[in-house]
Amino acid sequence: MPENIFDERIAANYDFADREMFDENHLEYISSFLAELANDQRALEFAIGTGRVALPLQKHGIEVHGIELSQPMVDQLFAKPEAESINVVVGDMASAKIPEKFQLVYLVYNTITNLITQDEQVECFKNAASHLQAGGFFVIEDQVPTIRNLPEGTTTSAFDVSREHIGIDTFDILNQTVVSHHYWIDADRVEIFDSTHRYAWPSEYDLMAKIAGLELFGRWGGWDKSEFTSASKSHISVWKKPS
Ligand SMILES: C[S@@+](CC[C@H](N)C(=O)[O-])C[C@H]1O[C@@H](n2cnc3c(N)ncnc32)[C@H](O)[C@@H]1O
Repeated sequence: MPENIFDERIAANYDFADREMFDENHLEYISSFLAELANDQRALEFAIGTGRVALPLQKHGIEVHGIELSQPMVDQLFAKPEAESINVVVGDMASAKIPEKFQLVYLVYNTITNLITQDEQVECFKNAASHLQAGGFFVIEDQVPTIRNLPEGTTTSAFDVSREHIGIDTFDILNQTVVSHHYWIDADRVEIFDSTHRYAWPSEYDLMAKIAGLELFGRWGGWDKSEFTSASKSHISVWKKPS
Protein backbone atom coordinates (compact mmCIF):
# COMPACT_ATOMS: atom_id res chain seq x y z
CA MET A 1 0.00 0.00 0.00
CA PRO A 2 1.44 3.47 -0.88
CA GLU A 3 2.25 5.87 1.95
CA ASN A 4 -0.65 8.16 2.92
CA ILE A 5 0.77 11.69 2.93
CA PHE A 6 -2.68 13.31 3.11
CA ASP A 7 -2.88 13.17 6.91
CA GLU A 8 -5.33 15.03 9.17
CA ARG A 9 -3.44 18.33 9.01
CA ILE A 10 -3.25 18.33 5.21
CA ALA A 11 -6.85 17.13 4.84
CA ALA A 12 -8.18 19.90 7.11
CA ASN A 13 -6.49 22.58 4.95
CA TYR A 14 -6.99 20.95 1.54
CA ASP A 15 -9.99 23.00 0.40
CA PHE A 16 -8.27 26.29 1.29
CA ALA A 17 -4.73 25.75 -0.01
CA ASP A 18 -5.24 26.40 -3.75
CA ARG A 19 -8.20 28.70 -4.43
CA GLU A 20 -7.84 28.48 -8.23
CA MET A 21 -8.56 24.74 -8.15
CA PHE A 22 -11.83 25.45 -6.32
CA ASP A 23 -12.90 28.26 -8.66
CA GLU A 24 -16.55 27.67 -9.62
CA ASN A 25 -16.04 28.29 -13.35
CA HIS A 26 -13.09 25.94 -13.45
CA LEU A 27 -15.10 23.24 -11.67
CA GLU A 28 -17.99 23.77 -14.08
CA TYR A 29 -15.66 23.12 -17.06
CA ILE A 30 -14.41 19.92 -15.41
CA SER A 31 -17.79 18.61 -14.35
CA SER A 32 -19.44 19.41 -17.72
CA PHE A 33 -16.64 17.60 -19.56
CA LEU A 34 -16.99 14.54 -17.28
CA ALA A 35 -20.81 14.56 -17.26
CA GLU A 36 -20.86 14.42 -21.06
CA LEU A 37 -18.70 11.27 -21.01
CA ALA A 38 -20.69 9.71 -18.14
CA ASN A 39 -23.84 10.16 -20.25
CA ASP A 40 -26.26 9.91 -17.28
CA GLN A 41 -24.58 6.72 -16.06
CA ARG A 42 -22.39 5.89 -13.05
CA ALA A 43 -18.94 7.47 -12.54
CA LEU A 44 -16.03 6.45 -10.31
CA GLU A 45 -13.38 8.91 -9.13
CA PHE A 46 -9.99 7.46 -8.24
CA ALA A 47 -8.51 9.52 -5.35
CA ILE A 48 -11.78 11.34 -4.71
CA GLY A 49 -10.25 13.45 -1.93
CA THR A 50 -12.64 15.93 -0.32
CA GLY A 51 -15.01 15.83 -3.32
CA ARG A 52 -13.74 18.94 -5.12
CA VAL A 53 -14.84 17.45 -8.48
CA ALA A 54 -17.19 14.67 -7.34
CA LEU A 55 -19.69 17.07 -5.76
CA PRO A 56 -20.06 19.37 -8.81
CA LEU A 57 -20.32 16.25 -11.03
CA GLN A 58 -23.08 14.91 -8.80
CA LYS A 59 -24.95 18.19 -9.39
CA HIS A 60 -25.07 17.21 -13.09
CA GLY A 61 -27.22 14.24 -12.03
CA ILE A 62 -24.39 11.68 -12.15
CA GLU A 63 -24.15 8.94 -9.49
CA VAL A 64 -20.56 9.26 -8.25
CA HIS A 65 -18.49 6.64 -6.36
CA GLY A 66 -14.93 6.98 -5.12
CA ILE A 67 -11.76 5.17 -4.09
CA GLU A 68 -9.48 7.09 -1.73
CA LEU A 69 -6.36 6.14 0.23
CA SER A 70 -6.65 8.74 2.99
CA GLN A 71 -9.28 8.32 5.72
CA PRO A 72 -8.80 11.98 6.83
CA MET A 73 -9.64 13.16 3.26
CA VAL A 74 -12.73 10.92 3.28
CA ASP A 75 -13.74 12.36 6.68
CA GLN A 76 -13.52 15.87 5.19
CA LEU A 77 -15.68 14.73 2.25
CA PHE A 78 -18.39 13.29 4.51
CA ALA A 79 -18.40 16.42 6.67
CA LYS A 80 -20.20 17.97 3.65
CA PRO A 81 -23.94 17.14 3.77
CA GLU A 82 -24.24 16.85 -0.04
CA ALA A 83 -21.68 13.96 0.03
CA GLU A 84 -24.11 11.70 1.88
CA SER A 85 -25.09 9.68 -1.21
CA ILE A 86 -21.49 9.10 -2.42
CA ASN A 87 -20.14 5.60 -1.90
CA VAL A 88 -16.41 5.60 -1.04
CA VAL A 89 -14.06 2.66 -0.59
CA VAL A 90 -10.92 3.48 1.40
CA GLY A 91 -8.00 1.88 -0.43
CA ASP A 92 -5.36 2.10 -3.11
CA MET A 93 -6.62 3.12 -6.56
CA ALA A 94 -4.13 0.66 -8.10
CA SER A 95 -5.87 -2.31 -6.49
CA ALA A 96 -9.06 -1.48 -4.53
CA LYS A 97 -12.34 -2.70 -6.05
CA ILE A 98 -15.94 -1.56 -6.17
CA PRO A 99 -18.31 -4.31 -7.35
CA GLU A 100 -20.24 -2.12 -9.88
CA LYS A 101 -19.24 -1.30 -13.48
CA PHE A 102 -18.96 2.33 -14.59
CA GLN A 103 -19.32 4.38 -17.77
CA LEU A 104 -16.60 6.72 -16.52
CA VAL A 105 -13.53 6.37 -14.30
CA TYR A 106 -11.55 9.57 -13.79
CA LEU A 107 -8.34 10.60 -12.01
CA VAL A 108 -7.62 14.32 -11.95
CA TYR A 109 -5.26 16.97 -10.56
CA ASN A 110 -2.01 15.12 -11.51
CA THR A 111 -2.83 12.36 -9.01
CA ILE A 112 -1.65 9.47 -11.23
CA THR A 113 1.84 10.77 -10.32
CA ASN A 114 1.22 9.96 -6.63
CA LEU A 115 1.87 6.36 -7.66
CA ILE A 116 5.64 6.50 -7.73
CA THR A 117 6.58 3.40 -9.73
CA GLN A 118 5.73 2.47 -13.29
CA ASP A 119 4.31 -0.87 -12.08
CA GLU A 120 1.82 0.89 -9.76
CA GLN A 121 0.76 3.25 -12.55
CA VAL A 122 0.19 0.31 -14.92
CA GLU A 123 -1.86 -1.44 -12.19
CA CYS A 124 -3.90 1.75 -11.83
CA PHE A 125 -4.73 1.73 -15.56
CA LYS A 126 -5.67 -1.96 -15.32
CA ASN A 127 -7.83 -1.27 -12.27
CA ALA A 128 -9.59 1.57 -14.11
CA ALA A 129 -10.22 -0.71 -17.10
CA SER A 130 -11.58 -3.46 -14.83
CA HIS A 131 -14.20 -1.03 -13.45
CA LEU A 132 -15.37 0.12 -16.90
CA GLN A 133 -18.28 -1.30 -18.84
CA ALA A 134 -17.72 -1.80 -22.59
CA GLY A 135 -17.71 1.62 -24.28
CA GLY A 136 -16.77 3.38 -21.01
CA PHE A 137 -14.06 6.03 -20.62
CA PHE A 138 -10.99 6.53 -18.42
CA VAL A 139 -9.93 10.19 -18.01
CA ILE A 140 -6.66 11.50 -16.63
CA GLU A 141 -5.69 15.11 -15.99
CA ASP A 142 -1.94 15.52 -15.62
CA GLN A 143 0.84 18.04 -16.02
CA VAL A 144 3.18 17.64 -18.95
CA PRO A 145 6.50 16.85 -17.16
CA THR A 146 8.02 20.13 -16.02
CA ILE A 147 11.49 18.66 -16.45
CA ARG A 148 11.73 20.61 -19.72
CA ASN A 149 11.93 23.83 -17.65
CA LEU A 150 15.18 22.71 -16.01
CA PRO A 151 18.30 24.58 -17.12
CA GLU A 152 20.90 22.07 -18.31
CA GLY A 153 22.85 20.45 -15.49
CA THR A 154 20.40 21.42 -12.73
CA THR A 155 17.86 19.31 -10.84
CA THR A 156 15.92 21.96 -8.90
CA SER A 157 13.35 24.51 -10.03
CA ALA A 158 10.90 26.85 -8.28
CA PHE A 159 7.34 26.44 -9.60
CA ASP A 160 5.73 29.10 -7.42
CA VAL A 161 7.13 32.04 -5.50
CA SER A 162 4.61 34.30 -3.78
CA ARG A 163 4.15 35.80 -0.32
CA GLU A 164 1.81 32.95 0.65
CA HIS A 165 3.51 29.99 -0.98
CA ILE A 166 6.89 28.83 -2.17
CA GLY A 167 7.04 25.66 -4.24
CA ILE A 168 10.27 23.98 -5.27
CA ASP A 169 10.70 20.78 -7.29
CA THR A 170 13.78 18.55 -6.95
CA PHE A 171 14.12 16.01 -9.74
CA ASP A 172 15.62 12.52 -9.71
CA ILE A 173 16.06 12.20 -13.44
CA LEU A 174 17.36 8.64 -13.40
CA ASN A 175 14.26 7.36 -11.59
CA GLN A 176 11.79 9.73 -13.32
CA THR A 177 10.57 11.13 -9.99
CA VAL A 178 10.27 14.58 -8.50
CA VAL A 179 9.75 15.78 -4.93
CA SER A 180 7.56 18.89 -4.70
CA HIS A 181 8.39 20.91 -1.60
CA HIS A 182 5.63 23.28 -0.50
CA TYR A 183 6.11 26.04 2.08
CA TRP A 184 2.79 27.72 2.98
CA ILE A 185 3.42 31.03 4.73
CA ASP A 186 0.93 32.60 7.13
CA ALA A 187 2.44 35.64 8.92
CA ASP A 188 5.26 34.13 11.01
CA ARG A 189 4.13 30.51 10.56
CA VAL A 190 5.28 28.15 7.82
CA GLU A 191 3.52 24.87 6.98
CA ILE A 192 5.66 22.36 5.11
CA PHE A 193 4.38 19.64 2.78
CA ASP A 194 6.59 17.40 0.62
CA SER A 195 5.17 15.01 -1.96
CA THR A 196 6.95 12.56 -4.26
CA HIS A 197 5.65 12.02 -7.80
CA ARG A 198 6.49 9.84 -10.77
CA TYR A 199 6.10 11.94 -13.90
CA ALA A 200 5.41 10.45 -17.32
CA TRP A 201 4.84 11.76 -20.84
CA PRO A 202 1.42 11.25 -22.42
CA SER A 203 2.91 8.62 -24.75
CA GLU A 204 3.87 6.47 -21.75
CA TYR A 205 0.30 6.69 -20.46
CA ASP A 206 -0.92 5.61 -23.92
CA LEU A 207 1.25 2.51 -23.59
CA MET A 208 -0.15 1.82 -20.09
CA ALA A 209 -3.65 2.20 -21.52
CA LYS A 210 -2.81 -0.26 -24.29
CA ILE A 211 -1.55 -2.77 -21.70
CA ALA A 212 -4.88 -2.33 -19.88
CA GLY A 213 -6.87 -2.91 -23.10
CA LEU A 214 -7.93 0.72 -23.61
CA GLU A 215 -7.76 2.85 -26.77
CA LEU A 216 -6.95 6.56 -27.00
CA PHE A 217 -10.21 8.46 -27.60
CA GLY A 218 -8.88 12.03 -27.39
CA ARG A 219 -6.40 14.37 -25.74
CA TRP A 220 -6.93 18.04 -24.98
CA GLY A 221 -4.84 20.86 -23.51
CA GLY A 222 -7.54 21.82 -20.98
CA TRP A 223 -11.05 21.10 -19.71
CA ASP A 224 -12.35 23.71 -22.20
CA LYS A 225 -11.32 21.21 -24.93
CA SER A 226 -8.54 23.47 -26.18
CA GLU A 227 -6.11 21.79 -28.54
CA PHE A 228 -3.21 19.83 -27.00
CA THR A 229 0.00 21.29 -28.48
CA SER A 230 3.73 21.17 -27.79
CA ALA A 231 3.23 24.29 -25.62
CA SER A 232 0.50 22.71 -23.44
CA LYS A 233 1.36 22.60 -19.76
CA SER A 234 -1.13 19.87 -18.95
CA HIS A 235 -3.33 17.37 -20.74
CA ILE A 236 -6.73 15.82 -20.37
CA SER A 237 -6.45 12.35 -21.86
CA VAL A 238 -9.39 10.06 -22.51
CA TRP A 239 -9.16 6.35 -23.30
CA LYS A 240 -12.07 4.11 -24.22
CA LYS A 241 -12.79 0.49 -23.37
CA PRO A 242 -13.70 -1.05 -26.73
CA SER A 243 -17.35 -2.02 -27.16
C1 LIG B 1 -4.21 16.28 -5.07
S1 LIG B 1 -5.39 15.35 -4.16
C2 LIG B 1 -6.72 15.24 -5.35
C3 LIG B 1 -8.06 15.01 -4.70
C4 LIG B 1 -9.26 15.19 -5.63
N1 LIG B 1 -9.23 14.22 -6.70
C5 LIG B 1 -9.25 16.60 -6.22
O1 LIG B 1 -9.21 16.72 -7.42
O2 LIG B 1 -9.30 17.56 -5.45
C6 LIG B 1 -4.69 13.74 -4.22
C7 LIG B 1 -5.53 12.70 -3.54
O3 LIG B 1 -5.05 11.42 -3.94
C8 LIG B 1 -5.14 10.54 -2.85
N2 LIG B 1 -4.27 9.40 -3.14
C9 LIG B 1 -2.93 9.41 -3.25
N3 LIG B 1 -2.47 8.18 -3.57
C10 LIG B 1 -3.58 7.38 -3.67
C11 LIG B 1 -3.77 6.01 -3.97
N4 LIG B 1 -2.73 5.21 -4.24
N5 LIG B 1 -5.02 5.53 -4.00
C12 LIG B 1 -6.08 6.33 -3.72
N6 LIG B 1 -5.96 7.63 -3.42
C13 LIG B 1 -4.73 8.16 -3.40
C14 LIG B 1 -4.72 11.40 -1.68
O4 LIG B 1 -5.05 10.84 -0.44
C15 LIG B 1 -5.46 12.69 -2.01
O5 LIG B 1 -6.76 12.67 -1.50
